Amino acid sequence: MDKKAKMTLDKDFKISKVDERIYGSFIEHLGRAVYDGIYEPGHKEADEMGFRKDVLELVKELKVPIVRYPGGNYVSGYNWEDGIGPKESRPKRLELAWNSLETNQIGINEFAEWAKKANTDIIMAVNLGTRGIDAARNIVEYCNIKEGSYWSDLRKSHGYKDPHNIKLWNLGNEMDGPWQIGHKTAEEYGRIACEAAKVMKVVDPTIELVACGSSNSSMPTFGQWEATVLEHTYDYIDYISLHTYYGNEENDIGNFLAKSLDMDAFIKAVISTADYVKAKKRSKKTINISFDEWNVWYHSRENDKKVEPWTVAPPLLEDIYTFEDALLVGCMLITILKHADRVKIACLAQLVNVIAPIMTEKGGKAWRQTIYYPYLHTSIYGRGHVLNSIINSPIYNSKDFSDVPVLESTAVVNEDNDELTIFAANRDQEDSLLLECAIKGFDNYKIVDHIVLENNDIKATNTKENPFNVVPHSANDGVIEDGLVKFLLPKLSWNVIRLSREN
Ligand code: AHR
Repeated sequence: MDKKAKMTLDKDFKISKVDERIYGSFIEHLGRAVYDGIYEPGHKEADEMGFRKDVLELVKELKVPIVRYPGGNYVSGYNWEDGIGPKESRPKRLELAWNSLETNQIGINEFAEWAKKANTDIIMAVNLGTRGIDAARNIVEYCNIKEGSYWSDLRKSHGYKDPHNIKLWNLGNEMDGPWQIGHKTAEEYGRIACEAAKVMKVVDPTIELVACGSSNSSMPTFGQWEATVLEHTYDYIDYISLHTYYGNEENDIGNFLAKSLDMDAFIKAVISTADYVKAKKRSKKTINISFDEWNVWYHSRENDKKVEPWTVAPPLLEDIYTFEDALLVGCMLITILKHADRVKIACLAQLVNVIAPIMTEKGGKAWRQTIYYPYLHTSIYGRGHVLNSIINSPIYNSKDFSDVPVLESTAVVNEDNDELTIFAANRDQEDSLLLECAIKGFDNYKIVDHIVLENNDIKATNTKENPFNVVPHSANDGVIEDGLVKFLLPKLSWNVIRLSREN
């Protein structure tokens, strides 16, 4: 028997406008993300700069508004000056975060060119691991000042007359993690982040800054880290970061799909901590959230231990995503949307080859992984205002979670084109779910489409041999009766229900 869930939406009950930067992503100098990922000179799809046009097309299809660069762990040992000037003079370095060899053939100038071609902005991270205030202020000057100073004129001499105008900057990466190059205590990081932030904003007062929060909510320092870092940086920064990755090592799909509840609790805890510091400081300013790394990551961990060190672009973190991974990614996207009032930036980590929605074969094709689809759907249809949806769903308990709603759902109204989109995941392993949604204030709306991602095999993947194994389809179902939108969500499915106003 089908199960049933109820949802109520009201056009006037809005959580917030979606900041499109929540559909951001991430390219790190790691594995085959840059080299043999976005950049492969000699490939038949390579453009005059060596960027793969087929990869660019997929990135553009996703409408990725912003991409974080160049790391990640990589940035904590990075000398940004290694990546500027004539390519033949750039040093090859031992890259200590991922034990690889870095050729520096791509640096900030080339990446800015790629970003332009991909119609995306950049979140630039500065190295607060091995370096500090001086390198941080210099790179802002190199990137954002028009001319007339040492670093801006150097950029011009490298052929980049116009500044890159990078508006969003990360103050280091995961500085709470013992694995991080230049790992710091919260006090040490809070101090250097505050001082770096001050000078970076003196160089360019129009930039926004993200301070490092915890690497995940299981870090022993979680909570106190955020409070201490914000005590030091509150007046100089704009966002605090969150990172999280989930896996299904135990092969327990009920528990795995519930992990977005952990993400939800993580977001709520950081909001509370930021607001506690706000109260303590009697500040009028609110610190928002940059969830600048999130995804499923576990498939590749064993393989990565076997990779030869000090090689260029080794295949690292190449998770091949399953259908069930796409379901969790969908639930995580819904969780981010539900916090649209405070989560203003989020980056699916990462974009190409490295724990990525897009995969490439060296000398061969590029294809979409399973997780590509929920990311695509929310990025395209999830722009506008998130509505405060009231949900009544059957629940279940799993190993780590209780009262897990079978229905994970939210809705976005786009008043520019009179569209209402309901995103819904059915976590039930046995039954379809009949969704009855009351839509108040949406007179004369009709159903446009019900996009479904479903598969009989929860471990199904897309590979270069079979790139279209897991793809969404349109289910021509759904009715509107007495102001209730009624749809059947298949067991274990991702759904996008699109409605628009009849003229
Ligand atoms: O995204 C992969 C890695 O995960 C990043 O380099 C690091 O910040 C995180 O631990």
